Amino acid sequence: MAKPTTRYVCQSCGSVFPKWAGRCDGCGEWNTLIEEAAPDSAPKGLGVGKGRRLEFVGLSGASEPAPRRMTGIAEFDRVCGGGLVPGSAVLIGGDPGIGKSTLLLQAVGRLAQDWRCAYVSGEEAVDQVRLRAQRLGCAAAPVDLASATNVRDIVATLDGGDCPGIIVIDSIQTMYVDTLDSAPGTVAQVRASAQELIRVAKRRGVVLLLVGHVTKEGMIAGPRVLEHMVDTVLYFEGERGHQFRILRAVKNRFGPTDEIGVFEMGDAGLSEVTNPSALFLAERRGDVSGAAVFAGMEGTRPVLVEVQALVAPSPLGTPRRAVVGWDSARLAMVLAVLEARCGVQIGANDVYLNVAGGLKVTEPAADLAVAAALVSSLTGEPVPADAVVFGEIGLSGEVRAVSQTDTRLKEAAKLGFSTAIIPARRSGGKGDLSLRTVELHHLGELMPLFQTDGGGSRGRGR
Ligand code: TYD
Ligand code: MG
Repeated sequence: MAKPTTRYVCQSCGSVFPKWAGRCDGCGEWNTLIEEAAPDSAPKGLGVGKGRRLEFVGLSGASEPAPRRMTGIAEFDRVCGGGLVPGSAVLIGGDPGIGKSTLLLQAVGRLAQDWRCAYVSGEEAVDQVRLRAQRLGCAAAPVDLASATNVRDIVATLDGGDCPGIIVIDSIQTMYVDTLDSAPGTVAQVRASAQELIRVAKRRGVVLLLVGHVTKEGMIAGPRVLEHMVDTVLYFEGERGHQFRILRAVKNRFGPTDEIGVFEMGDAGLSEVTNPSALFLAERRGDVSGAAVFAGMEGTRPVLVEVQALVAPSPLGTPRRAVVGWDSARLAMVLAVLEARCGVQIGANDVYLNVAGGLKVTEPAADLAVAAALVSSLTGEPVPADAVVFGEIGLSGEVRAVSQTDTRLKEAAKLGFSTAIIPARRSGGKGDLSLRTVELHHLGELMPLFQTDGGGSRGRGR
């Protein structure tokens, strides 16, 4: 049988198929398979050539780690794990227009005071970038600016004598390697371009900052195909309607991955939000039913957010469940536990759940806050305005302990809350806080807090 001369490559995950299909079997995305020429020959085995024996070394060595390059933007530095590591490649992914170029231009504007910085834009002309720099107030920073898309030129520049310490490539989807036939933005080009750039960055000890657009449409290769090649993957996310932007580390070879940095987009670019809890709670009205303040953790930092629920009678046969900022499967579980273990009738109602401020909460510790918001909406009785709630809920209705209770309580106390509805603590906890704690063993103990007659005990106050 003749060898196939073309193959179909998924532009989202990189899977290869001999036949076209509407949906990629690898990642489930639609319309992402693109025809490409098959490589001339299959990779060969090693053959007969002899290898060189490796020289092994010990884990501890004399080499001092090079100092990290700090941007001075504390939110950015923390997410990177304490500054940028020389010779590392960082991918900053995000939806188009979310503010990646703005963030990186601000970062190199600061870094340029200590290091030589280069900014290569494949998307915008030099004048456009200059205009933006003026708006951001960093036009005076000594950043080397160029508009280029050919990777060969960029590699030659980095290999030249006076190589910068930090280079931004905006974006990797506009770059191309001239030995490949496929168009810029395809998986093959994005991978090859990134590989060449990363290789030269490692060789020269340059910090490589790659911008990658997340594409819904799937016609252009997204940052996913690069995640395994780079050292650090940061995602810049946020709701377009909100001015908050969250920088989240999803992979980091040089630091923790659960850190977030919070920014606010304004007229003069992005500004740091050092106290996100105050920001997320700024528009809170304490006296409405269906809202509970969740004391969550994002990495090492406690973040308080408001969880809002609306339970309303449904005109539909299959009631609606709509969730923003939380996991809908988790909501279904909390609803089921409330029904089956606590006798709360929610089934025939529409349920809407929203995490205010555009934050996405992933912790199971939010279960109890969600349950409190749901029950509060159902009964019409507000959660006490001065209370924060957190705790995981098990399938039998038990309220389970979560990590870092003290950090969460401290943050709540700092922001003026005086009550915490939390899982029962085995050790009894440290009583040095001004907070009153209401400790629950079972979800059923939450119900008395919302009895409309007002006579319900407030749990077992300590
Ligand atoms: P940008 O950094 O160009 O997004 P990306 O590189 O991720 O595609 O951000 C563009 C958006 O940011 C645009 O919608 C306008 C907004 N913006 C501001 O609100 N204020 C500013 O000072 C700047 C520079 C941009
Ligand atoms: Mg951009």
